[in-house]
Amino acid sequence: MESIQGKIAVITGGASGIGLAMAKRFAAEGAKLVLADVEDAALQSAANELAATGAEVLAVRTDVARFDDVQDLANRAVDRFGKVHIVCNNAGVATAGFLAEATIHDWQWVVGVNLFGVINGVQAFLPILLRQGEECHFVNTASIAGLIVGPGMGIYCTTKHAVVALSEALYHEMQLMQTKVGVSVLCPAWVNTKIVDSGRNRPAGAANPTEELGPTAKMLQEYTRQVVKAGLSPDVIANHVVSAIVAKQFYILTHPEMTPAVQMRMDAIIGGSAPGFVPPPGINKIQ
Ligand SMILES: NC(=O)c1ccc[n+]([C@@H]2O[C@H](COP(=O)([O-])OP(=O)(O)OC[C@H]3O[C@@H](n4cnc5c(N)ncnc54)[C@H](O)[C@@H]3O)[C@@H](O)[C@H]2O)c1
Repeated sequence: MESIQGKIAVITGGASGIGLAMAKRFAAEGAKLVLADVEDAALQSAANELAATGAEVLAVRTDVARFDDVQDLANRAVDRFGKVHIVCNNAGVATAGFLAEATIHDWQWVVGVNLFGVINGVQAFLPILLRQGEECHFVNTASIAGLIVGPGMGIYCTTKHAVVALSEALYHEMQLMQTKVGVSVLCPAWVNTKIVDSGRNRPAGAANPTEELGPTAKMLQEYTRQVVKAGLSPDVIANHVVSAIVAKQFYILTHPEMTPAVQMRMDAIIGGSAPGFVPPPGINKIQ
């Protein structure tokens, strides 16, 4: 896609963090926006903020884990703007802690949002993008946790690796089918957003029987809060995304300091050794 000017962009998780930064950057490029988020008050306030800058915005309260919600989002986007050119499947949540402390509710919630959110976005929007036959682009937000694996992030890493796999499959197929649908997968490391407070959007049905976090979850939550706060601005990530859409770049790696960790994993796979990791401080002391 040569330019984002005048394009229709759908962004899930658009009320905060990376999603909101993408929305602002797209609006600055002259795109029209469809903002989707499960957090209604934050969604309305983000939409108002963008509209006040002169952007055309449709806000649709959407739980990306529910296919019917995402299908409704797609229908409303087309009803309002007639077309969709950019789909950012970005909404995501995170839990931390060793798998031995995880509950089935943790798994269901994180897989529902992070993986089914992207699956639902592809299922609902791909037929529209193919039918249009114009230059279009999916940007699926994975994470550097979709390329490497460490302890304490097993559920999150599982979903993000799956998002990378889904995105690669979609890319290959769009190429083979000679469509005009581009695909990128966004793989940042730490970004200064509200991701550590993901629990604010956890549905009552996926709540754990006790609010008490396990010992590794407590430790990692504190560690994650610090590194996220020291992370990149979401605006920097949004700049990478716009450049990648224009350049038709598939992998969007925003943190070059993480490349050695990706290399280490690949070397272990090819070399047949056990997987290695760089532990966060304190994590190697857990019994
Ligand atoms: N912040 C980081 O360090 C980091 C690093 C790598 C990848 N990511 C990924 O970036 C994406 C955006 O996260 P962020 O860091 O901006 O966090 P954030 O919490 O600031 O924003 C996430 C948004 O997703 C929304 N959301 C949560 N559950 C939803 C649901 N079921 N349906 C619709 N919307 C929902 C939230 O309300 C929020 O507005 C996520 O996929 C996350 O995994 C974040």
